[in-house]
Amino acid sequence: MLNVAKQRKDFPVLRENPTLAYLDNAASTLKPDCVIDAVDAYYRKLGVNVHRGVYKLSYLATDAYEEARNKIADFIHADFEEIVFTRGASSALNLVALSYGMSTLGPEDEVITTELEHHSNMMPWLNVCEKTGAKLRYIPLNKEGRITVEAFQSVLSKHTKVVAITYVSNVMGYITPIEEIIHLAHSVGAVVCLDGAQAVPHMPVDVKKLDCDFLAFSGHKLCGPTGIGVLYGKKTLLSKMPPVEFGGDMADDVNLYDMTYKDTPYRFETGTPIIAEAIGLGVACDYIKSIGLEEIGKYEYFLKQKAIEGLKKIPNLILYNETAETGIITFNIKNVHPHDAASVFDNNDVCIRAGHHCAQLITKWLETIGTIRASFYFYNTLDDVEKFVQSVKEAMEFFSSI
Ligand code: ALA
Repeated sequence: MLNVAKQRKDFPVLRENPTLAYLDNAASTLKPDCVIDAVDAYYRKLGVNVHRGVYKLSYLATDAYEEARNKIADFIHADFEEIVFTRGASSALNLVALSYGMSTLGPEDEVITTELEHHSNMMPWLNVCEKTGAKLRYIPLNKEGRITVEAFQSVLSKHTKVVAITYVSNVMGYITPIEEIIHLAHSVGAVVCLDGAQAVPHMPVDVKKLDCDFLAFSGHKLCGPTGIGVLYGKKTLLSKMPPVEFGGDMADDVNLYDMTYKDTPYRFETGTPIIAEAIGLGVACDYIKSIGLEEIGKYEYFLKQKAIEGLKKIPNLILYNETAETGIITFNIKNVHPHDAASVFDNNDVCIRAGHHCAQLITKWLETIGTIRASFYFYNTLDDVEKFVQSVKEAMEFFSSI
């Protein structure tokens, strides 16, 4: 259950800095004690490798690692073998492009993506298209910068083989009408590679109901450790995909001139896996579940709406995504470089992000060099909103006076 005052006490950074307004949650969330303790406990009590050791400590470490996979599978309603641990969401998306894309695409094929993508869900496809001769097509965004089903239909064709698309934009905070897009993509035999980095930590996501083929997300945006991400893939697809890295535990039978690999998920987890971070992420999923994703989403939206009420009273403000359904606000102060404005926020202990947010296409679409972004999570408060709005006012007044 959501109890902001109680949950704030779970975060050492907030205990140490009670007046800090941490509003850069789309870049990374803070980490609660339970996650830090789980990572610490692995190093203090186990600290050994998994899948290899023939001794009790290694069996215990293996159990903890695989239990984490179970928790994460459960979190998004996937099956155990459909969860591949990767270094982050970007690595997960690269894995789909390099394995599925490189092994299936050719010059007759098309990949559909959007200008709303984080670089990590379009650069890997741009690379694969350059190498295979496949064509990259963009869904035209509507006036607000949204993806619509109608616009998707205008680029969908029998040549479409992959749709690489964001679930929630990291800049605009819009939720993509993904169910219909997945249904339409499947009707022409295409697979959908969904970037869930800004969705999975903020709303209930059920991969079986969505029927998406791939879904990537990161641990550190979900109160988990850095250095870990997840690739969900349908087992039918993952088990046919070739590995892109070789060595270590992913091998099945190795001979002088041929080799076979383990089945999914292990064929994609080369070398010693990301053990402590996986265990930490499993605990983070339990923690988030205990609060409730529906409530988290509603609360972030409430905070964002309150902030927008305040921002709309400030002159010379360019608000890019007033209608976003999530807790992300993107704006600029007229004639002020976003990085210059950011210094005022920092002086007031308000953490926001300024720049292109690793999504240059949408920044260019907005016809700007960068934007200021505030992004909420369940531990933010109305005081944070007030500090944020006050900082925007100060930045505006300061830059209009010089
Ligand atoms: N992808 C992260 C962001 O949007 C880092 O800030």
